[in-house]
Amino acid sequence: MDDTTSRSVVERARAVIPGGAQTGLRAQAYDLGEVAFSESSGPTLETVDGEEFTDYHLAFGPIVLGHGHPAVDDAAKATIDDGVLYGAATTALEVEVAERVVDLLPSAEMVNFCNSGTEATYHAIRLARAYTGNDRVLKFEGCYHGWHDYVDISVYPPRERVGETHPESDGMLPEAVDHTEVLPFNDAEAVVEAFAEFDDIGAVICEPIPHSVDCLVPDEGFLETLRETTAENDVPLIFDEVITGFRHSARGMQHELGVTPDLTALAKAMGNGYPVAAVCGREDLMAQAGGDNTSGVVISGTYSGHPVGLAAASETLRVLSAEPVIEEITALGERYREGLDGLFSEHGIEGRVVGYGSVFSPQFGVTGEPQRYEDVLGLDEERFVAFARGMRERGHFFTPNPYKRQHLSWAHGEAELETYLAAADAVLGSLPVN
Ligand SMILES: Cc1ncc(COP(=O)(O)O)c(C=O)c1O
Repeated sequence: MDDTTSRSVVERARAVIPGGAQTGLRAQAYDLGEVAFSESSGPTLETVDGEEFTDYHLAFGPIVLGHGHPAVDDAAKATIDDGVLYGAATTALEVEVAERVVDLLPSAEMVNFCNSGTEATYHAIRLARAYTGNDRVLKFEGCYHGWHDYVDISVYPPRERVGETHPESDGMLPEAVDHTEVLPFNDAEAVVEAFAEFDDIGAVICEPIPHSVDCLVPDEGFLETLRETTAENDVPLIFDEVITGFRHSARGMQHELGVTPDLTALAKAMGNGYPVAAVCGREDLMAQAGGDNTSGVVISGTYSGHPVGLAAASETLRVLSAEPVIEEITALGERYREGLDGLFSEHGIEGRVVGYGSVFSPQFGVTGEPQRYEDVLGLDEERFVAFARGMRERGHFFTPNPYKRQHLSWAHGEAELETYLAAADAVLGSLPVN
């Protein structure tokens, strides 16, 4: 069997894996030609054909220190040497990482580990519902919180479904969808009105910076209103910091914004690519999970607190706290945004470059500051795909989905910036002016 080309691997994948990749979003990479990866290092990805790309996808964001950061990988390997899984009682490593999260995040008084952001938001909502005794969840259009039925709603609704409750998947439980209320991001009044209208709100969940649609930045006062209104009604506010936590700040976006939620979901950059996630928050909320699995809130999982993920998290959080990683990737992000912005002007391209910190995204055919989901609906997908194609041909990898941001890691630097902007100059120069 020929495994030596990306094409042959993808062909085999299509026969045994739905869509030929583990997720539909991953399969979108094939829109620009089949690729199967076999190696990664620092800022670089390599395919089975030996083709190299600078990676701006970074697995949808977890890789914050660069692929294969030696200290993180060494910590994970050392843990495997000691023993892989115990699944009873606790370990010193669990305690150490939990203490670190408590030290870092303003909202964290207690911590439960799990393996994905989806699990973390699920747990957070269950804890909030148990506390309030209420069922309704408020979420915001354009925010993704994972694939479970409570939240995979109105993340990318088509224009005609904006303002409604739009399930993203077939097969979702109608009762779960009916118990979710969707509001526009940055609309403080809508939050106050929702609390006036519904007396059964059990949880409010929000990405403090919605990166699931590239980047929306919260208006001054929006998250503060969310905080005040939920506190007045004694309804837990959940920040989904799966992307923002540890990518934009070692102390979470909540620290940067000065808004402390009751519960926080963490994943992605927490482990620099290893599967580790957490729900953390106020002691009284979290303590509901301290029962014996027959009472209180059940939080469970064979692989929860897996030593390999936790070893990676311990080292990643240590590096993020001790080194100027966030400052440097944020400064570099600013230069990518400025550089792309300048190129858009130079080539007379209608569009804007959005982003925050180490995240950036060129958007074609739209101008102004996006405030809410509707503001990204009009972007020119074809042009973005043409841009992604030109960039891939020149050795820069990111997914050709215009709503999916590009990321930087600590392994990206001047050399990557220079080659990226030179390639972007050539590609943007080759697009027809609009
Ligand atoms: C903001 C946000 N929350 C939750 C999730 C779900 O995380 P996971 O894919 O680890 O389940 C994601 C994943 O992209 C995310 O971006």
